[in-house]
Amino acid sequence: VRIAILGTGVVGRTLAGGLEAAGHDIAVGTRDPRATLARTDTGPMGTPPYAVWQEEHPDVALLPYPDAAAHGDVVVLATAGDGALGAVELAGREDLAGKVLVDVTNPLDFSGGFPPTLTVCNTDSLAEQIQRAVPDAKVVKALNTVSASVMVQPGSVADGDHSIFVSGDDADAKATVTSLLRELGWRDVIDLGALNTARGPEMYLPVWLRLMGALGTPAFNVKVVR
Ligand SMILES: NC(=O)c1ccc[n+]([C@@H]2O[C@H](COP(=O)([O-])OP(=O)(O)OC[C@H]3O[C@@H](n4cnc5c(N)ncnc54)[C@H](OP(=O)(O)O)[C@@H]3O)[C@@H](O)[C@H]2O)c1
Repeated sequence: VRIAILGTGVVGRTLAGGLEAAGHDIAVGTRDPRATLARTDTGPMGTPPYAVWQEEHPDVALLPYPDAAAHGDVVVLATAGDGALGAVELAGREDLAGKVLVDVTNPLDFSGGFPPTLTVCNTDSLAEQIQRAVPDAKVVKALNTVSASVMVQPGSVADGDHSIFVSGDDADAKATVTSLLRELGWRDVIDLGALNTARGPEMYLPVWLRLMGALGTPAFNVKVVR
């Protein structure tokens, strides 16, 4: 599958690498490829500059958002929460029309320090805001409830015996995303229902953040037992 990943952070890179290893044709999107490749600073969590990752993944093109979106039959939105609406606007409605748009973002507001608060909750979600911004795309919320490394290697935690959620209004789009999740090793994919059910997984983030603090690692997940 031709997949565009919008976002050059740890999530974008990890998903790009994981989906490339699964045999897909990947392009990564950024605001300004030249500026992104010219960065030499290390990220807050010790993430190396993008150029270092690019050297290790020579077959993954780094393109401006609209070109990356045009490349993908499936588009993954992996930008900062407060950049998500800007990124889909830059990617453009036409290049996203009719496509599966996998939203892995979280609506986190770090302006008041750590832990962050949610910019939207209860009666709306970032996923729904994104869907309203690009009504012709088929938005599916997924993977926002686990850290980047667990997204592509669920087997690294409890042998993969834990759960992941999908929310979306289009059944075929959810089936496409579920099939990609299974390729990555996810076995318990729970379809929560329509896109407005993404409010739940987004509002789980305050719990996830406290769990990370208590456990001292982001390498964990929840298992839904029946
Ligand atoms: N870190 C995790 O393990 C994890 C787990 C689950 C979900 N998430 C969610 O996944 C998303 C990505 O997280 P991350 O840590 O990889 O990266 P991040 O640092 O949150 O985001 C980096 C990306 O956001 C883009 N961006 C920032 N502001 C923008 C704006 N105003 N307009 C357009 N693009 C903008 C940047 O574009 P440029 O490339 O142009 O700089 C860059 O590609 C976040 O929403 C996060 O909450 C993270």
